[in-house]
Amino acid sequence: MKRFISHEDLARDRRFKRTRSRNQLLSTLPDDVDAIVRVLEKVAPKIRERLAGTALEPVFDELGPGFSFLTLNGGDQPGAERSPLQLRLQLHGIFVGELQALEAAGRTLWDFPDAPWEFKMNMARQCWDESRHVQVYEKLIEHVGGEIGEFPENTFLFEVSCADDPVLRVAGVNRCLEGLACDVFRSLIDYGRAHDDAVIAQAVDFVLADELTHVRFGSDWVREFTRGDPEAAQRVKEFQRETDRRFAFGGGRCVAKEERREAGFTEEELDELDEILAEGPRRETLVRAGEILRDRHQARQRGEVVPPVASASN
Ligand SMILES: [Fe+2]
Ligand SMILES: [Fe+2]
Repeated sequence: MKRFISHEDLARDRRFKRTRSRNQLLSTLPDDVDAIVRVLEKVAPKIRERLAGTALEPVFDELGPGFSFLTLNGGDQPGAERSPLQLRLQLHGIFVGELQALEAAGRTLWDFPDAPWEFKMNMARQCWDESRHVQVYEKLIEHVGGEIGEFPENTFLFEVSCADDPVLRVAGVNRCLEGLACDVFRSLIDYGRAHDDAVIAQAVDFVLADELTHVRFGSDWVREFTRGDPEAAQRVKEFQRETDRRFAFGGGRCVAKEERREAGFTEEELDELDEILAEGPRRETLVRAGEILRDRHQARQRGEVVPPVASASN
């Protein structure tokens, strides 16, 4: 069996639709409404193509290329509202994230045959947990009336976190990816509680307890693998910062500080994470751009001529 496989080789059955999106666009946008409108209108055909045949196609057709700023970006805060579509989309995104976490932990076990036995046992335990999480989220998707494959999957979580170097791998997968899971799950539990959905609140609470353990594996093994090697420790730090930046999704996420502290994050690391998540456009900027994109999209659909947005230098 091959070692170090590409994310493109991850196997899926026919229900899944893979998209090549690397989720980089949002993190590169400035905090400027006009600039965002210009960029989004330019990439609109690509976005439309990616969504074709999924449940997001009609949403795009109604709201235009900035639809995600209006329907999907509003509910990341604890206990916040989520539309039924947003909830289905989020649970689906987590479901494929769990699949990729299972694949990542499985690959880590296989890719580094010389790693210590205890490390391998930790990765094996993680595989066992992640398979259970895949099943939990499959049931939660059913619980909210969704369906596997109704949204596109991108495999960038696996792609970004699965480095070939064992120290970077464990940092990317077990601290960045699993840390992201902690943040998202904390917010989902709060949502479940605020909306009297005991199924979501309790199921995700069980999953979060496991994720915390997976982050702790990351903290412990990064420390072990970089012991007495400040250069390696610095390399891990930089890789982690870059990966967290890629996982920031344009901000709006709350860091599950209590869980992360328990799993070995230092106060300095938590502050740094807050700074990374504060980079990029503000939520209000994205929502305003989304409204303008929607109005321009709908005007075009009515056959009106829509002038280009003036560039910043004009
Ligand atoms: Fe998981
Ligand atoms: Fe996990």
